[in-house]
Amino acid sequence: AGDGPLRGERVLITAGPTREAIDPVRFIGNRSSGRMGFAVAAAAARAGAKVVLVAGPCSLATPGGVERVDVESAREMHEAVMQRAGDCDIFIATAAVADYRVDRVPEQKIKKSDQPVALTLVPNPDILQAVAGLPRAPFTVGFAAETERLAEYAEAKRARKGLDMIAANLVGGGRDTGFDSADNALEVFWAGGHRSLPRAPKIQLAEALVALIAERRHGNDQT
Ligand code: C5P
Repeated sequence: AGDGPLRGERVLITAGPTREAIDPVRFIGNRSSGRMGFAVAAAAARAGAKVVLVAGPCSLATPGGVERVDVESAREMHEAVMQRAGDCDIFIATAAVADYRVDRVPEQKIKKSDQPVALTLVPNPDILQAVAGLPRAPFTVGFAAETERLAEYAEAKRARKGLDMIAANLVGGGRDTGFDSADNALEVFWAGGHRSLPRAPKIQLAEALVALIAERRHGNDQT
């Protein structure tokens, strides 16, 4: 569709938070709105890509021309992504995936008492790392939300997870960018390179990121 910089590319994107059940009525969640990922999906579709968006629970409209797959938990997101990762050219992980889930989820609601309750949390699969580690991995792009030492932590994460690119932003400390806000700013790193995408509405920033991904990917194609 279209003749943009990603024409003909198959792009798989994760977005939003995940929900990890505590019991049938309660869950552990996070403050991700999904806006950055939905904006990236919209920008990729406008750039001519065939986009599949695997979304955790978020109340956002599906961007035009994007195929959406709704999931709840990290394990559901992992499964939905691994089913499709072999058939994509670019994977962009914007989701705020829960690092842990509750070990044993009871079938019935936990009853209130005056005693403390302990939950045992076990690690969730790292979806991004799993995709980056595939034998025929797509071009993988991760996100990193950090509260300090942005460049150092982001580049370390990129190298450790074996990513082609990482988009990092500062969060916390009363900032009005990042999680659950309309604006963001990104520092993007790849092997041997870096670009700052200055503060802008997420829609605009997503467009700049998609342009950079297209540029880097074509750069890689030629080598
Ligand atoms: O290690 P950290 O969670 O900071 O890495 C963030 C990046 O990894 C994001 O791109 C996020 O979508 C992805 N991720 C993932 N699966 C996880 C944890 C993080 O895909 N279980």
